[in-house]
Amino acid sequence: MNILAFESSCDETAAAVVRDGRTVLSDVIASQADMHAVYGGVVPEIASRKHIEAIAGLADAALEGAGLEKSQVDAVAVTYGPGLIGALLVGVNFAKAAAYGLGVPLIPVHHIRGHISANYIAHPDLEPPFVCLCVSGGATLIVDVRDYTEMEVLGATRDDAAGECFDKVARVLGLGYPGGAPLDRLARGGDDKRYAFPQVHVHDAPLDLSFSGLKTAAVNLIHNAGQKGEALDLPSLAASFAAAVSEMLVPRVMEAARRRGCGKIAVAGGVAANSRIRRDLERACAQSGDRLYLPPLSLCGDNGAMIGCQAYYEFQAGRTAGMDLNAYANREIEIG
Ligand code: KG4
Repeated sequence: MNILAFESSCDETAAAVVRDGRTVLSDVIASQADMHAVYGGVVPEIASRKHIEAIAGLADAALEGAGLEKSQVDAVAVTYGPGLIGALLVGVNFAKAAAYGLGVPLIPVHHIRGHISANYIAHPDLEPPFVCLCVSGGATLIVDVRDYTEMEVLGATRDDAAGECFDKVARVLGLGYPGGAPLDRLARGGDDKRYAFPQVHVHDAPLDLSFSGLKTAAVNLIHNAGQKGEALDLPSLAASFAAAVSEMLVPRVMEAARRRGCGKIAVAGGVAANSRIRRDLERACAQSGDRLYLPPLSLCGDNGAMIGCQAYYEFQAGRTAGMDLNAYANREIEIG
């Protein structure tokens, strides 16, 4: 089954052709990150307009890359939430037109379910059940993936997402947008114990997370040093901050895996590229005996292949949409 998939939930327009869930025939992407960098974050109106300009060309490029004619497409899939509503609507409307024109089913895909699926592409042997740490610019969730389309949130952030937190601190340090990767690079060689950051525990919800206190502490530290004219050891600041974010995430996902007892942990989303978090998870899993599945860096961020992969399993579960499909800025992963 050849699925032509589209992703446009934030600032990347992406299209891919995926065969039978796990074979990626093509995967093309047009990033707008440079466009938004001048504003220090994504401008929703600009994102929507850039998606409109890029999406038809990417559809052609995905088909050409896969070596397929339009008549060989068996279904069209699209991210329909969560994300920036104007941006999502571009993808949803284009996918509807494509499915209508080709006379094939339309498959709606939850963005974070897509991120989880990136692991199926990277690891052909991975099958549910497993616990997945989903960390992106907009979401931070610990998910019990019971089956390909059956999921339960075990823990979630009460405020900011982990990616938002990296981006904010990077912005205050003048590292540009998106700031996660440059902050990660800056941390190399830094002393991760040089600066202390608070760890927050949510009362009666040990698997829930909170990043706003950590973010504010880092921003205050940078501003205070600036006001006093004190020089900061920036690599050590970046390393200490990454260690604090990792300390928030890793023990909780390990505890979630222990409770579920499935012995498998996966990671998903843009922040899954973070070298400190990857290293800490590798160490923790080596100790616990859990098998760890990390997506390659190329599949951590938004892409079309992950949507085409998840779409296959949604289709198997009978989840297709009509021409009245809408987009949702917020959408629970359990509903899909
Ligand atoms: O999954 P993604 O591409 O988009 C969303 O669906 O949100 O995630 C983007 C986020 C941004 O916040 C970006 O700064 C962060 O992932 N990110 C990183 C790294 N690479 C990307 N954060 C920390 N360390 C990295 N190496």
